[in-house]
Amino acid sequence: MATERTFSIIKPDATRRNLTGAINAVFEKNGLRIVAQKRIQMSQAQAETFYGVHHERPFFKDLVSFMVSGPVVVQVLEGDNAVAKNRELMGATNPANAAEGTIRKLFAESIEANSVHGSDSPENAATEIAYFFAGSEIVG
Ligand code: CMP
Repeated sequence: MATERTFSIIKPDATRRNLTGAINAVFEKNGLRIVAQKRIQMSQAQAETFYGVHHERPFFKDLVSFMVSGPVVVQVLEGDNAVAKNRELMGATNPANAAEGTIRKLFAESIEANSVHGSDSPENAATEIAYFFAGSEIVG
């Protein structure tokens, strides 16, 4: 299996409920190493660019408002097949469809306030990591 990096966001619904440590515990218990992490207040422009692929979707405006509604924790996770592993740990986008034991089943409030984001491919992971982190901030 290939060691890989993925990008993760702990979203405002989770930071608001003090769940950063509980979510990180799921990553660490399941073999993902947090090799970079910072708590930030995303700007409107940052959120709009980050979610640019969803620009035409009806939920875009609300999604951006939600992502700037409080602090987020941006992270780089490293491990074997980290992209797929993280998506498995997160569970389905809509917590109503998420499997037992997944982060979204455990913690998410709704499809919008769904506690975490994770990259959907290694290519997007590289782009998303570079959007938030300088190489010098990632310590493997
Ligand atoms: P995320 O993995 O961060 O990527 C896009 C986000 O849009 C997704 O998680 C959801 O939180 C959010 N979202 C809000 N409404 C919807 C919707 N109806 N369908 C899909 N995603 C939605």
